Order: sequence, then structure tokens, then C-alpha cells
Amino acid sequence: MVKVITYGTYDLLHYGHIRLLQRAKELGDYLIVGVTSDDFDKTRGKINVQQSLEERVKAVQATGIADKVIIEEYEGQKIDDIRKYGVDIFTVGSDWTGYFDYLNEYCKVVYLPRTEGVSSSEIRDQKQAVNIGLVGYEKYLNKVFNESKFVNGINVNAVCTTDSTEFSEELCSVDVMSDDLGKVLDAVDAVYIHSHPSVHYKQIKEALLAGKHVMCESPLAETQSECNELLELAKSKKLVLMESLRTAYSTAYSRMLLLIKGGKIGDIISIDATCTSLRTNSSAGENWSGMTAWGPTALLPVFQILGTNYDDILITSRCGEDKKIDNFSKIDITYPKAVATIKVGTGVKSEGELVISGTEGYIYVPAPWWKTDYFEVRYENPENNKRYFYQLDGEGIRYEWVSFLKMISAYTEGKETEADYFDSIDRDVSLAISNVVERFTSGDNVKYI
Ligand code: CTP
Repeated sequence: MVKVITYGTYDLLHYGHIRLLQRAKELGDYLIVGVTSDDFDKTRGKINVQQSLEERVKAVQATGIADKVIIEEYEGQKIDDIRKYGVDIFTVGSDWTGYFDYLNEYCKVVYLPRTEGVSSSEIRDQKQAVNIGLVGYEKYLNKVFNESKFVNGINVNAVCTTDSTEFSEELCSVDVMSDDLGKVLDAVDAVYIHSHPSVHYKQIKEALLAGKHVMCESPLAETQSECNELLELAKSKKLVLMESLRTAYSTAYSRMLLLIKGGKIGDIISIDATCTSLRTNSSAGENWSGMTAWGPTALLPVFQILGTNYDDILITSRCGEDKKIDNFSKIDITYPKAVATIKVGTGVKSEGELVISGTEGYIYVPAPWWKTDYFEVRYENPENNKRYFYQLDGEGIRYEWVSFLKMISAYTEGKETEADYFDSIDRDVSLAISNVVERFTSGDNVKYI
């Protein structure tokens, strides 16, 4: 019996897939189809797969062509599978020509001509093309723009800016470029806002009132009541308002939260998070203090792990004369049975690590923890320590884009509760972050040094 094996994502199964499977089957007597798991797909750059692994497996099974369907979960698995199942022929479409020649050592490799004119990427693009406007002036928007290209269905076609000097040529050549937000809103379905926090409220409100979905860099607003008002407005207008904090969308960070929730290090007693940079941001006449630049990121694990019902908060800030621009702030938060300390700064450099201490062990995330792909769970007995690594592509920005797009799709289909699943930052966390920013800007509970 000649055994044939082939692999693919098989998202939104189309006739190109079916023709490939039919021809693969004809190469032998028994066909094994490997369907790539979501995590493995992420590392291969396919990050906007629409269907779950289960749906994709079912679709392949439903063709009735495969004799066996397996899941592809890790790099190098193909060699293992070929040996394990005694495979004679490995085959894939001609878009992979040459790529799998190394498997010739284990079995025969056949590249079948790819069917012209159809692909999952194209179907995804057509299914949901969302026009997006970028708002702001920071160099960071170049990254955001470049990362959007990895996500099928995102089309950045407009930019609202008061200063484009930091932008790439490509970003400057979008269809609409204006300093008038109204003009940009007319050209898009949604906006990504990365401007100074002092204008977030105004810009988000304008976008929501114009019926556009919004993803905005944290904090959503500089006061808790404004943040609440915006979240309510989005809800009443059935629009997405997503807080952008790329850390929240990194796989390693979210797996770490799940381990903690699962009790891996017992009850949490203390969290220490440090985020600093030497760069002082003062483009377009606006200053980004330590709190503005780093506060929300550093507060994220505290509120997501210990919750938002703390007893007490004390902010100690090393500020200039105007008491607005801190170059270093330390925030101590006391909970009934735990404490958290965060240190943020621009113009100061420290070790940007995250330590979460529990009654049974602790988690250590090395610097820069906010771009985390690795962490360690450490115990009293080092033999029990465990290390975790999850590939992080594009600093997490492309995963934010995927979540935003999936939330927009869910809202468009009237499935708002499903959309919540893709939102990594709960409403109470958004409100708590804006509340700390408010305390800082109002000087409430701040000790200046
Ligand atoms: N395939 C094919 N003809 C097509 C599309 C895919 O023969 N028009 C083959 C691929 O070469 C691969 C298998 O089908 O062997 C599974 O491909 P997959 O990557 O899941 O589908 P694509 O449509 O290529 O997906 P994408 O657009 O996301 O790359």
C-alpha cells in the first residue's frame, strides 16, 4: 500500500484545496492530511486564519478524500510523521516547490501544480476588507502600518496627522492624508489612534459619533468618567472600542495569565513591574512623561492578575516644576492580601523585568517583559522550574490587528458577545488604568520628589 501525506491550513476550504487533495490521493492508496494548528500557523505568519482548528479539520474530513486527518503542531513534525506512519510520498502544492526537498531523505517528494486563481488569503481579503485610518504623528505608526500588511482584510487607506515628518514614504502615499479627522473618518470604517492621551477622548468620541470602530492606544481617556462615557457610547452605537496595549495580545503573556489563574504559583502576594526608556518623547510639541509613555503597560499585569478593587494607591513622582512631566514614577498599590509596585520612567534606565510572587513559587519575565516571548516559573526546588517560550512576531502589533478585525466582524454580524472573547482587556481594567492616569494628572495621591 502506497501511503501519501500532505499538509495545509485549509482555511475556508476552497476548490484549490479539494483538487490538491484529490490529486494527492491519486498518487497512492492511503492519504493522510495534516492540518496545521492555530499556534503553528502563527509562527508561519498565517495569523488571520478565520476558522478554528476544529472547523478546518471537520471541513477536510467532510470532503471524504482523506483516510486520516492529523494535526500539525510543531516544527520538524513532518519527519516524525513520515517515520511514524511509514509514508511513501510527501506532497504539497507547487507554491512550496523546493521548500521540502530535505524530506527526500525520508520519502519521495512531489510538488503538484497549484490551482490558479484561488487562495484562502484572497477569500479572507474579499470577505472582510476593512478600511482603516491611522491617527497620530509618532514613528511608531510606521510599525503599525507595516504590521497591518500581515493581516488579510486590513486596508490602511487614510492617515490623520498634524506632523508626518516621521512617516515612511509608503505611509505618506495612502489615499487620504489630512489633519482634519472628519475627512479621514469619511474615508474609513475604523481608526487606530496613537496620539497624545490628552486628545484621545475628543478623537475617540468624534470617531464613534461618526459610526466608526476604534482601536486606541491606552489609556482610552485621561479620566475614568470620560473612559466610561466612551465605553458606553461605543456600546450604545454597537461599535468596537478596543484598548491597544500590544503586551495584552502576546501569546506568552496571555499563557502566563492562564497559568497564574490555574494556580501554578499559588495565591499571588506581590507584583513588581518596571518599564523605562531613555528616550524622551516630545514630538509635535507634546511631552510624553514616564506615566504617559509607560503607565498603562506597567499597570496591565497588576490589574489583570490582582483585579481592580485595591484598597490604596500611592504615586511617587520625580517631576519637573509644572508637576506634569515625570521622568520617573513609582506606584504602590495595596490590596487586601497583596501588594504591587510599578516603576515607570522616561529619561531613566532600569532592568525592565516583571516578577509575580505567589505562595508556591514565582514567575520571572526578563526584560523587556512587555515584549515578552519567554518566561520562567520558579520554585523553591529548582528542579521543578519550568521555562516557557512562545514566538512573538511583530511585537504583538499584528495580533492586535487580528483581534480588532475579528471584533469588527463579530459586531458586523451582530454577535457582540463573541467579540468580547477577542478583546484581551476587560472594561474594568480600562477604567482602572484611566483612573490611575487621572490621579496622576490631577495630583491626587501623588507625592512629588
Ligand atoms: N493549494 C493549491 N491550490 C490553491 C491553493 C492551495 O493547490 N489554489 C494547495 C497548497 O499548495 C497546499 C494546500 O493546498 O498544498 C493547502 O494550502 P493552504 O496553504 O491551506 O491554502 P492557501 O489557499 O494557499 O492559503 P493562503 O492563501 O493562506 O496561503
